[in-house]
Amino acid sequence: MNVTTYKFYMNGEWKESSSQQAIEIYSPYSLDLIGRVQAITREEIDEAISFAQEAQKNWKEVSLQDRAQYLYKWANELMGMQDEIAEIVMKEVGKSLKDAKSEVARTADLIRYTVEEALHMHGESMKGDSFPGGSKSKVAMIERVPLGVVLAIPPFNYPVNLAAAKLAPALISGNAVIFKPATQGAISGIKMIEALHKAGLPKGLVNIVTGRGAVIGDYLVEHKGINMISFTGGTNTGTQLAKKAAMIPLVLELGGKDPGIVCEDADLQEAAKQIISGAFSYSGQRCTAIKRVLVHESVANKLLKILKEEVEKLSVGSPEEGNTVVPLIDTGSADFVQGLIGDALEKGATLVTGNKREDNLIHPTLLDHVTIDMRVAWEEPFGPVLPIIRVSSDEEAIRIANESEFGLQASIFTKDINRAFAIANQIEAGSVQINGRTERGPDHFPFIGVKGSGMGAQGVRKGLESMTREKVTVLNLTK
Ligand code: G3H
Repeated sequence: MNVTTYKFYMNGEWKESSSQQAIEIYSPYSLDLIGRVQAITREEIDEAISFAQEAQKNWKEVSLQDRAQYLYKWANELMGMQDEIAEIVMKEVGKSLKDAKSEVARTADLIRYTVEEALHMHGESMKGDSFPGGSKSKVAMIERVPLGVVLAIPPFNYPVNLAAAKLAPALISGNAVIFKPATQGAISGIKMIEALHKAGLPKGLVNIVTGRGAVIGDYLVEHKGINMISFTGGTNTGTQLAKKAAMIPLVLELGGKDPGIVCEDADLQEAAKQIISGAFSYSGQRCTAIKRVLVHESVANKLLKILKEEVEKLSVGSPEEGNTVVPLIDTGSADFVQGLIGDALEKGATLVTGNKREDNLIHPTLLDHVTIDMRVAWEEPFGPVLPIIRVSSDEEAIRIANESEFGLQASIFTKDINRAFAIANQIEAGSVQINGRTERGPDHFPFIGVKGSGMGAQGVRKGLESMTREKVTVLNLTK
């Protein structure tokens, strides 16, 4: 089979690295070699950053309307390449073709919405005399200006959408971008940049740097030419990144252990539907997956019965056949999930269904009677295993929910809106969903992680704000 070696993109050109080394990318489900990407050198990173700095000087002067036109074209080009990109996403990160196509369409929508939001944002002005002793003759004009060169590091699970969620706000706001895709996801990222190249984006504004995180990751993060970092990925990597980065703005979207809290008065059928979709779509490889259920013991058996029936209906297998539960991204991930299941079973959890493995494919697994001494009660599996923890009160559910190191999202299932708010108000998380699964979208909602789940915020407007800073110009009138 003819395997492509993809070039990296710098200063508007596709290049081979002087390292003459390439990283092999294997499909997580067929285990076939699907392509190679350049393992670029530190010197090439320096070059890419200088090109970005140079390009940004002109770009920040380009009118917002003109910048918008490039991004609209990018969205159109992406849709023109939808099938081609989706095919690569499927092969590279093992997402079903339907989901991969939706990811591309969601990305085009996200880019367009980001442009429109930016076009409608405006600064403000303040008069001096509203402060005691201040004078009317002082007027402050407050506007948002770009930060410079943004380092965008998306994760493997949304190699297109979460990359564009960083690139689009950066570019429309007048920044240049150094785009470091996840190694597994790099070909999808390259394809996305092909669409941007076709859109005619001025050279140097976006440079894609591929290579092993272990080799170029720290170098990029610590580089003096980087003015802001937007990272989505694991909590450990994010925490290390935050320690190493210079004094620059950071937005970190990290892991989660989102609880689904089920009260006695919940619509159990609906709650189960949301929990199953929240926990098992794309094999639970979403930071926002429901990763534990905290159910009132009086309805636990009933809920379990429905969950078991629904889990057993989930389609399992290759993403090429459109299955929901697909092989995990790599063997290490599958081993980790298997370890969590094993630990829980050893410590007395009840296996309701699942715990079958074929290579990287872990069958959807439900564990009942999970207790807080089990690793699966606290650790993020990023795989298709759902622990059920029985609780005796809302207070206990809130306590266990908050004892987690993470604070991304939480779901509460109840028919009593006052109770829902009473619980929601006490949950330490960026977002709380009432009677719905945990999820980031729609993409213009603020998306926030607290505690080990991150810092800063994403979501269209928040993305734009995070990639700009306020600048104040004060007019001192003489009359
Ligand atoms: O994996 C992290 C993503 O931000 C989750 O996005 O809720 O749309 O799946 P999602």
